[in-house]
Amino acid sequence: MELVTEDNITELAERRWATAHDPRAKELMTALVRHLHAFAREVRLTEAEWMAAIRWLTSTGQISDEKREEFILASDVLGLSMLVVQMNHHFAPEATPATVLGPFHIDGSPALDFGGDMSDGVEGTPLYVTGSVRSLDGSPVAGALLDVWQADAEGAYESQLPEIDEARLRAKYTARADGSYCVRTIAPKGYSIPMDGPVGDLISRTDISHFRPAHVHFLVTAEGHEPLITHLFQEGAEYLDSDVVFGTKQELVVAFEPRDPGPTPDGGESVVPWVEARYDFVLQPSS
Ligand code: BEZ
Ligand code: FE
Repeated sequence: MELVTEDNITELAERRWATAHDPRAKELMTALVRHLHAFAREVRLTEAEWMAAIRWLTSTGQISDEKREEFILASDVLGLSMLVVQMNHHFAPEATPATVLGPFHIDGSPALDFGGDMSDGVEGTPLYVTGSVRSLDGSPVAGALLDVWQADAEGAYESQLPEIDEARLRAKYTARADGSYCVRTIAPKGYSIPMDGPVGDLISRTDISHFRPAHVHFLVTAEGHEPLITHLFQEGAEYLDSDVVFGTKQELVVAFEPRDPGPTPDGGESVVPWVEARYDFVLQPSS
């Protein structure tokens, strides 16, 4: 029998978790034990700190529900979500890069036609996002589905507004035969991540900015191509270089050009000033 000491406990725990039946579970669990123990040893973790961490994890679980994912938020602000995205989406340099999904995507958004207004009734400056969906070789991806969502001018997503019972600032668009698409929405603003939970509590004890730069989310899917989860960020927006979830990439920063009242990209006419963002999505063919 081998009795436990401070020196051998890591090896004992690793050996125990190496009995996991699934080989990948074995790899994950033994590495987790190794790194957790190394962390505790490096910082000489006290019992009070251990208990504070347990309490934090407990409240992170308690505040989560089907609309709020505080653990995902924790992963986001630690940079883990973006690291996992980058390790798992090694697209060609010419392809549009992927970013985090974030906690506010809702399945089943309504389908809108080319230029259909997903901001119906929500106040803000009209924004047209236009361009095309192309494959790496430049060919148009007809029929690509663009699932689009964003926050309102106060920074609130539909799932944060319990009184809303219909789709708000989200819709699905289909690229036309030449790959072109046109989203009609309102110009987004930068916003704070939810600060009323354990993640916000931790952040508020640091100098970390808790804001995200103004952006619109896209999930682009098309047959024969890797799904693309990404955002478009407004050029010149505040917080571009301090995005609290590390989601900003230079390739995704787009000019929001101001336009005078007049013809709009959907063939209509705006009686008020509006803005236009042009972006061609380039999809990575499936391997
Ligand atoms: C978002 O952009 O919707 C988001 C992403 C990660 C954390 C919080 C919000
Ligand atoms: Fe967002």
